[in-house]
Amino acid sequence: MTEAVRAIGLHKTYGRGASAVVALDDVNLALRTGTVAALLGPSGSGKSTLIKALGVVSPAERGEVLFEGRTVIKDGVPFADLTKLRRQHLGFVFQKANLTSFLTARENVEIACDLGGKADGRRRARELLAYLGVINREHSYPEMLSGGEQQRVAIARALANEPSLILADEPTAALDSVRSRTVMELFRKVAHERGAAVLVVTHDHRALDVFDVIYEMEDGRIAAHAGGTAPGASPG
Ligand SMILES: Nc1ncnc2c1ncn2[C@@H]1O[C@H](COP(=O)(O)OP(=O)(O)OP(=O)(O)O)[C@@H](O)[C@H]1O
Ligand SMILES: [Mg+2]
Repeated sequence: MTEAVRAIGLHKTYGRGASAVVALDDVNLALRTGTVAALLGPSGSGKSTLIKALGVVSPAERGEVLFEGRTVIKDGVPFADLTKLRRQHLGFVFQKANLTSFLTARENVEIACDLGGKADGRRRARELLAYLGVINREHSYPEMLSGGEQQRVAIARALANEPSLILADEPTAALDSVRSRTVMELFRKVAHERGAAVLVVTHDHRALDVFDVIYEMEDGRIAAHAGGTAPGASPG
């Protein structure tokens, strides 16, 4: 089994009655381990909603999410300990790094290692900061770091628990195109070298060559898809 995550028939509606918004409308996708995928689409098409549904942060009310072939939630009913799942198997990166301001770069990563139940957090944190090219900033507080450095630390933090799936929602929106590309290349490296599946929401079409798979959303649906595994097929 090399499938990291699969979504089957996800539906999500915000609000009700006349003001109801269908944010996800029968979304199907599958991501293999070791692949980096982009999620494109216009504003309001449902990208962040899908990220939150896959990350079981704000689940879809209908449909199923499977991790490594095992159902974790179906029609809003959990089949696993979702908090444990998030802590041990998922990594999140957002537009803003959201580092803890009173902790150094290394401590921000170390605390995530501890939360993820990993032993030897300090050594792991240093190894990850080195991997992402910011070990020279390990003792710096977030406000002393550039936007690109903060985002590298945030990626190191997301890797702390050795996640099988990394979900990134516009992680480069605040970066210039050179730094943005560097971060996208780091996601590719993480997927290929560490065997995680990585799904990155982006509006930046300049770095699309970095991705193995490209999904495009429109009005709550996956409208187009290039490369990788075919979405939609049920494992049966
Ligand atoms: N908490 C909420 N309450 C009500 N409606 C919401 C909520 N969150 C999102 N929506 C609506 O759901 C739809 C999908 O929103 P979503 O945030 O997933 O889009 P997006 O593709 O991430 O957009 P963007 O590119 O602007 O971030 C939009 O119509 C949005 O207005
Ligand atoms: Mg969004």
